Amino acid sequence: MRLLLIGAPGAGKGTQAERLAARFGIAHISSGDLLRQHVRNRTSLGQRVKSYVDNGDLVPDALVMAMLRKPVLAAASGYVLDGFPRTVEQAKASYAVVRPLGVEVQAAIHLDVPREDLVRRLLARGRGSDDTQAVVEHRLQVYLENTVPLLEYYAGREWMFTVDGARSADAVHEDIVERIQKLASFIEATR
Ligand code: AP5
Ligand code: MG
Repeated sequence: MRLLLIGAPGAGKGTQAERLAARFGIAHISSGDLLRQHVRNRTSLGQRVKSYVDNGDLVPDALVMAMLRKPVLAAASGYVLDGFPRTVEQAKASYAVVRPLGVEVQAAIHLDVPREDLVRRLLARGRGSDDTQAVVEHRLQVYLENTVPLLEYYAGREWMFTVDGARSADAVHEDIVERIQKLASFIEATR
């Protein structure tokens, strides 16, 4: 199974991706986690991306794409992508890479959470340099400007759906699983 999660900062992409990965036995691939790991380990990629991550700006597409190529192609039993793609450009560029290999995404899940909840969750978490009030505000702005157009780009495709992400993590998880199962039987029936 190949899934992707789209949602604002704090929407619960990481939380839900972890559960979906365990439930379906697929790889959890988080662009943000991988970037933070590079920054922590002071790799050459880490040094190039640190200021973007700290400021809540998007890392240039080419760097993110190169970083994700290996884990995505290595995920033999499937994957849940968390935080990628987050622009229309990334979606188009990655589709061109994975489509010929037959490993394109099968379902896109949009986690919808009101802004007040997002800010509250992120400030409570305090992950590090990017969970301060100012950077959180900026990350939300970047989401509106760059990722909301991706939702519009995917809108109307039968493999994309929105769930109410403001409920408990368990309720959100069960809802996603139900929707995926419905989608899977729909795909089976129309094959
Ligand atoms: P990334 O790591 O993707 O951060 P983000 O999108 O800002 O989202 P978060 O990880 O903060 O939130 P989340 O949706 O995963 O929620 P979580 O489950 O943690 O990206 C970081 C940076 O990397 C970017 O700013 C950019 O610089 C760069 N980057 C990453 N991908 C990129 C790309 N594709 N292109 C370019 N640059 C890229 O939950 C948040 C909190 O809420 C937690 O404390 C959690 O416990 C809690 N919570 C979760 N679910 C619930 C619930 N249902 N109810 C109550 N609390 C909940
Ligand atoms: Mg995350």
